[in-house]
Amino acid sequence: MKNDQKIIVALDYQDAASALNLVNQLDPSLCRVKVGKELFTSTGPKFVEQLTHANFGVFLDLKFHDIPNTVAKACSAASNLGVWMLNVHASGGLEMMQAAQQAIQNTNSKPLLIAVTVLTSMNQHSLNQIGIQTELTTHVLNLAKLTKLAGLDGVVCSALEANMLRLQFGDDFCLVTPGIRPANVNQDDQSRVVTPADALKNGSSYLVIGRPITQAENPQKALEAIYNECISAKT
Ligand code: C5P
Repeated sequence: MKNDQKIIVALDYQDAASALNLVNQLDPSLCRVKVGKELFTSTGPKFVEQLTHANFGVFLDLKFHDIPNTVAKACSAASNLGVWMLNVHASGGLEMMQAAQQAIQNTNSKPLLIAVTVLTSMNQHSLNQIGIQTELTTHVLNLAKLTKLAGLDGVVCSALEANMLRLQFGDDFCLVTPGIRPANVNQDDQSRVVTPADALKNGSSYLVIGRPITQAENPQKALEAIYNECISAKT
């Protein structure tokens, strides 16, 4: 059971010391960790390697979006850091995603490659502003289909959309869902939240969880509680 790590702890910190302070309290057999643009820009690849050497699976959340050759090289470099998962923007197009997927095939520890469809900070109006007139959910679905066609492993999505995407794409497509809040925990600035158990029931493969663990009085206890909720949800 311990290998069944559904939880990805979001390390939303500015510096290595703060992130390490949290990570040192967590059991790497119960979770993986997510390093995003802020932490990566301030701490660099060495810090990612430090996390992998401490036995944490790392989701490098840098959302690459550029010409195919550049994204392919960036994905190859990320893969050589030994990360477990990395991501690109699906709106970079089929050719870009295929190049990214191709680039990581022959790296030492081939990571999972997933795509961001439409950022949840965007709405229909902001989509229209960048020239996309398609209805937002249809656009999400179209980009998820393109992701699948490119041979990627899955997408980031809301746990509220997971059920629809699971039905559409089947069991092998990886759904990574943020916006998770255990019952009776502060929602912070997330508005459409789902509990860990419900997210898994909806078809989520992995749960990205930040503040319910990072801001908890006892982060390891909070992690254990969510881990146990995930185990019970599956039995
Ligand atoms: O603290 P919290 O659990 O809200 O953190 C969620 C993490 O997931 C943050 O790193 C946030 O940037 C990320 N995220 C999100 N919603 C998305 C995509 C990523 O909350 N749609």
